[in-house]
This record gives sequence, C-alpha cells and structure tokens, in this order.
Amino acid sequence: MDLKKYQKSYFDVIEQRYSCRSFTADKITTEELEALLKAASLAPTAVNAQPQKIYVVENPTLLEKMKEATKYLFDAKTVIVVCHNPKESWHRKYDNKDHGEIDSTIVATHILLAATAMNLGSCYVCSFKEDILKFILDIPQEYVVNCIIPIGYPKNIGVHGPRKEFDETIIMK
Ligand SMILES: Cc1cc2nc3c(=O)[nH]c(=O)nc-3n(C[C@H](O)[C@H](O)[C@H](O)COP(=O)(O)O)c2cc1C
Repeated sequence: MDLKKYQKSYFDVIEQRYSCRSFTADKITTEELEALLKAASLAPTAVNAQPQKIYVVENPTLLEKMKEATKYLFDAKTVIVVCHNPKESWHRKYDNKDHGEIDSTIVATHILLAATAMNLGSCYVCSFKEDILKFILDIPQEYVVNCIIPIGYPKNIGVHGPRKEFDETIIMK
C-alpha cells in the first residue's frame, strides 16, 4: 500500500474537505478502500491502544437495512462505521475517563482527510440510532459507535461550510 501516490498537499486537503452528501452510483475501488484503511490505521491513539473497530459495509442488503438506523447514508456504496471497544481503550487513572471516543474521532478524521486526498467524498455522520445499527451490523453491545462515514465519488464538487470568525473560537492569553 503506497500512500505516496496521492500527492495533494496537506493544506489543499484541509481546504478541500467538505461534507459530501451526494455520490455517483459507482463504488470506490479496493485500492482506494485499502488506502483509507491504511490512513485510519496510522491515526494516533492514547497509549497506542488502537481500540478502534472499523466496520466496512458494501453489501447492498445491509446498506439498505442501515436506512432504518440513519437517513444520512446518501446512497453511498461504501459506508464505514467507526467504533471502539472500551475494554481495549485507555482509561485515565485519575478519573477513569475512557479516551476511546477521542481515539475513534481521530481515526475517523484520518479517513475523511484521506478521502479528500484521493478526490473522494465523505461525510462525518452522528445522527443514527446506535441500538438499531448495532443489531443490523452485529456489532457487540459493549462497543461504542462513534460515527458513520458514507464514502464515494462526489456527484458535484462542493465546498466546506462557513466558519466563525477567529475571535469567536480562539482565545489568546
Ligand atoms: C460530530 C459530527 C457529527 C455530524 N453529524 C452529521 C450528520 O448526522 N448528518 C450530516 O449530514 N452531517 C453531519 N456532520 C457534518 C457537519 O454538518 C459538517 O461538518 C458541518 O456542517 C461543516 O460542514 P463541512 O464539513 O462541509 O465543513 C457531522 C459532523 C461532525 C463533526
């Protein structure tokens, strides 16, 4: 798996990423999927625990059933569901805080940015019914589902949403 063939610069990727909600009917290639999963595997995780459990759904019957759990699949032919297993994630000693959701958020972000680097569209989706999703995909009860990421070739190239002014989000001390 050679990620170097995707030559887009970091800041081009950052600027070009947007939430894509409309895809062509084509499924991404196995090579593209493998590059996304490689990028996911390179995400940092607390104490390098790598508690993520990544479900890749391409089975049309399952994709159809998943509509019972979310309306935000946008007919993508590849859908990635990022979860973590709290039995494998780092829990901070001080207050037992589970850092698995932070880990899986970073994993998901790697996937989104890698998708943009490959000119694929993707969207971070959290509006879903976790219990129904777990049932459909046979995800163990103890796993925590972080997000659903529909992925495909964008129907039209979009742009990211507007951002707040720095003085609303950045506090200089
Ligand atoms: C934690 C999180 C949850 C989100 N959930 C959804 C969702 O359920 N459905 C959806 O269409 N977009 C969802 N989004 C995408 C956001 O709406 C989007 O990132 C935001 O509007 C900014 O647009 P941009 O990604 O194009 O910059 C989510 C994004 C994040 C980070």
